[in-house]
Amino acid sequence: MVSFSPSLLAADFSNLREEISKVAGADYLHLDIMDGQFVPNITFGPGLIRAIRPYSSLKFDTHLMIEEPEKYIEEFAVAGSNLITFHAEATYHLDRLVHQIKDAGCQVGVALNPATPLSELEYILTDIDLVLIMSVNPGFGGQKFIPQILDKISRLREMIDSRGLDVMIEVDGGVNRDNVQEIVEAGTDIIVAGSAIFRADDPAGALEEMRARVAFTG
Ligand code: DX5
Ligand code: ZN
Repeated sequence: MVSFSPSLLAADFSNLREEISKVAGADYLHLDIMDGQFVPNITFGPGLIRAIRPYSSLKFDTHLMIEEPEKYIEEFAVAGSNLITFHAEATYHLDRLVHQIKDAGCQVGVALNPATPLSELEYILTDIDLVLIMSVNPGFGGQKFIPQILDKISRLREMIDSRGLDVMIEVDGGVNRDNVQEIVEAGTDIIVAGSAIFRADDPAGALEEMRARVAFTG
């Protein structure tokens, strides 16, 4: 069963409460945290997560695109994150950070930029809940899906299954109604979609349409 995590980045920030209610039929809410250092864009922080937490019963899927993520884990956990994902490229101490997130009471994900090899995960895969495969260069919504990433997803699926592990694969960037099926067929468990959902005339309908397209896949 495929899960969906609409990315709030594409929502109307002047009307967040209503925007969030439009995606109540999703599984997660994807929260993109950008610091203007790790990526060339700035979004929001734990304060906003805390403010919207009472208005959604979805699991909060926090995607940290920040330098020195280890400094902010507890704040993002207390703010209401259920899952915290950091970038392998943003820390020297991947193993330590994985355990810091678990100790903070959250599920843990490791994100890889498009050009980062899967070998980064070799000695950590048994300890994590999720791998986030970036299918665009992080920093902005509305970019085009990088086609080589389909192969990366299949290889990761094989790596997880051949080891008998229970690690989810999340794919983030450029996913829309036209490519969602092949992305799921490659082995994805959680689909992130920003523009394809929040920029649609009917976000709830767009989400249901994507769900329908993958209903018999995966
Ligand atoms: C990009 C973010 C994504 C972004 C996806 O750096 O990590 O989560 O919001 O947006 P779309 O679905 O529009 O590509
Ligand atoms: Zn993201």
